Amino acid sequence: MSEDSSKFMMISRNDPCSCGSGKKYKKCCSATGIPGELTDLYWRKYQIRLKNESDISAIRQCGALVIKTFKEIEPYLKPGIATDEINTIVHEFTIKNGATPAPLGYRGYPKSVCTSVNEVICHGIPSNRKLENGDIINVDITSILNGYYADANQTYFIGTPSADAQKIVSVSKQCLKEAASVVRPGCYLNDIGRVIQKYAESQGCSVVREFVGHGIGYEFHEAPQVLHYVAQGNDIPLVPGMVFTIEPMINLGKRESRVLSDGWTVVTQDGSLSAQFEQTIVVTESGMESLTPYEL
Ligand code: MF3
Ligand code: CO
Ligand code: CO
Repeated sequence: MSEDSSKFMMISRNDPCSCGSGKKYKKCCSATGIPGELTDLYWRKYQIRLKNESDISAIRQCGALVIKTFKEIEPYLKPGIATDEINTIVHEFTIKNGATPAPLGYRGYPKSVCTSVNEVICHGIPSNRKLENGDIINVDITSILNGYYADANQTYFIGTPSADAQKIVSVSKQCLKEAASVVRPGCYLNDIGRVIQKYAESQGCSVVREFVGHGIGYEFHEAPQVLHYVAQGNDIPLVPGMVFTIEPMINLGKRESRVLSDGWTVVTQDGSLSAQFEQTIVVTESGMESLTPYEL
């Protein structure tokens, strides 16, 4: 636990919770081990909204639906399918389950899911483009269920992958795995970026900098930004109740990106393959829990 947070831990279980709920501390923020003072501190100092146990269970439910949605589309990820057909399946399955696809209409985004093929880094817009044997595709699904958001993505092979495709998918998957393994109270946001950058670069790959992970839960994108590389000053201590995504975008070639004229599609400048895996995680007392769990 950091120096900053430890001095805010003096509250007893029967005190009124200092988050202002009017409930006893033991029935409120202490449920996740979050002293109300810490909630206040993180809001004031970093604009981070720590989540309590009932928030976390709602995000977990939303995350379970996101994971069910992946299961729904996976059988269709074959040569010949158009990315717009993936959009339709995601859209209809989400609605049928009482949820809302978060991307649709978000800052003017026109579809319900992002489908990013080959050199597309992120925010690919579903279209009539048909997937071909050897393509890789990242499918990024975010749902809103009972007012709570969960966000995850995975990169898939279409048909038989090339050696390059196998490499970039394996490196980006390992980046998320390594990052998740360092998350625990007392570590810093920078530790996440450090392990990702170190592993990606050790494999001769590069880390995209223009897009980052993010706090999530009450909104699609909340504080903090979760950088996938080391940056000065990025030294926020992780505490229980922080919910954020880790979603490193890893390029086989150089890290530079550009946005196409549709205003959304982000591609590698050098045309090299890019892959990504994303999960929504919560910092717990002992480490972390994925709220959008799938095997890495
Ligand atoms: N799901 C993306 C993320 O991981 C954001 C997509 S924004 C959209 O943060 F508008 F393109 F959907
Ligand atoms: Co995200
Ligand atoms: Co996402």
